[in-house]
Amino acid sequence: MFITFEGADGSGKSTQMNLLKNYFDKHNVNYIFTRDPGGTELGALLRNILLNYEGNIFPTCELFLYLADRAQHVDEKIIPALKEGKIVLCDRYIDSTAAYQGYARGLDINQIKLLNDIATHFLCPDVTFLFDIDTDVAMKRLGGNRDRLESETKEFHQKVRQGYLEIAANN
Ligand code: TYD
Repeated sequence: MFITFEGADGSGKSTQMNLLKNYFDKHNVNYIFTRDPGGTELGALLRNILLNYEGNIFPTCELFLYLADRAQHVDEKIIPALKEGKIVLCDRYIDSTAAYQGYARGLDINQIKLLNDIATHFLCPDVTFLFDIDTDVAMKRLGGNRDRLESETKEFHQKVRQGYLEIAANN
């Protein structure tokens, strides 16, 4: 089974994932925990660029960096683990790209869907949990030390939230 957790920055996703990991550990479930971006050695380099690069990253370049990370992640880690019969628990996946690069940055949602399909060989999660929270509350939780995406405007984060709600409604 392939399980993904999604939500805006500050939505409480990580806290809930940790609770599920504790449960899996306690019950000896055969699983791996991984994350998008940064689930592989190459992905960790891409994650560093995506979250910490101080120059301007154009939206299309940002999209392809997330997709490059995902393509490597799916082939190197997710598909092999699923083939071994493991549960894969993944922090963010294709819906993040639709919400952030699509709904919030304004890139074309249908093109993103197509590109996600190429990057993942059409691998979709069996279940996705979406954590939804008021944008003001989420942004307060982020505090002062913010990465490149977390430093975006409130308007951007509101679009991410609305995007996620629309994706959930469509699924
Ligand atoms: P995350 O790992 O949740 O960050 P943190 O460790 O700070 O909780 O996600 C990294 C950031 O990347 C987050 O702001 C969402 C963003 N993101 C996208 O914009 N597009 C994507 O396709 C993915 C997977 C993440």
